[in-house]
Amino acid sequence: MPAEHRIAAETDIPAGESREFVVAGRIVALFHVEGEFHALDGVCPHAGGPLANGVLEGCIVTCPWHGWQFDVSSGQHCLSAGIRQTAFPVRVADGNIYVELPD
Ligand code: FES
Repeated sequence: MPAEHRIAAETDIPAGESREFVVAGRIVALFHVEGEFHALDGVCPHAGGPLANGVLEGCIVTCPWHGWQFDVSSGQHCLSAGIRQTAFPVRVADGNIYVELPD
């Protein structure tokens, strides 16, 4: 059953930046895009690069290892329709960011 976890405070991540968190044994990449927060599985599906350390331009993150790009709002790979990184639901309440993770 999915469980919601507090991952950070809103103020921890300036707009246009991202951070990596380890939550319930998972690596989660959290992105702040124009007042909205998005969470993806933080491990790049290509070869395990840290997506949270990539360059974020608008809602597109570029993996720092080999340049794969993903839309952080959906997890969709920018070139390959068949590749979609797992995205996790995000909720913001009272200045805190919560991410829903599967078991
Ligand atoms: S590990 Fe991310 S593009 Fe290769």
